[in-house]
Amino acid sequence: MRLIILFNYLPFILILLLMRILTLGSETLREKSAPVKNIDGETNKLLTGMFEILDKHGGVGLAAIQVGLPLRLFITKIGNDTQRVFINPSIIETSEELTGYEEGCLSLPGIWGNIMRPKMIRVQAWNEKGKPFTMDADGILARVIQHEYDHLGGALFIDKLSEGKREQLLKKYEKLKKSKK
Ligand code: NI
Repeated sequence: MRLIILFNYLPFILILLLMRILTLGSETLREKSAPVKNIDGETNKLLTGMFEILDKHGGVGLAAIQVGLPLRLFITKIGNDTQRVFINPSIIETSEELTGYEEGCLSLPGIWGNIMRPKMIRVQAWNEKGKPFTMDADGILARVIQHEYDHLGGALFIDKLSEGKREQLLKKYEKLKKSKK
């Protein structure tokens, strides 16, 4: 059964136990997320759970779809930066200047690819209190926001690579997966 359905019925502690990071091959990861209708106590429970999972895996960003909930929200926590929440976000401006960086993803453990992205962005979203905000981001934060934003449309960083590079990485990924079994 889909986690999103269970979410309405189960106590939060069980939801946390059921929350898993979906990895490549999961069809859910390729779904388009739907807008969050109400930012309420349930949303905050979900966010708490997501921050716990992010911390446990040592990641810098996580979208709700990665834990099986196709909702337009994601979180970031980069090093000493504060915990950030982006609900129903829109990237409204991007710089012409692009930069490259070796990007990874908790849904594709063990592989990284050099991805070009706009260096600076302006994003509009709602926070966990339901308050709208607009912010400018640069550097690693801009990158993580764009990466997580892509998840809301069902996109993964490997989609941005050339076919040759993607196949090479996917081969490595499959090999790693087999070696872990
Ligand atoms: Ni990711």
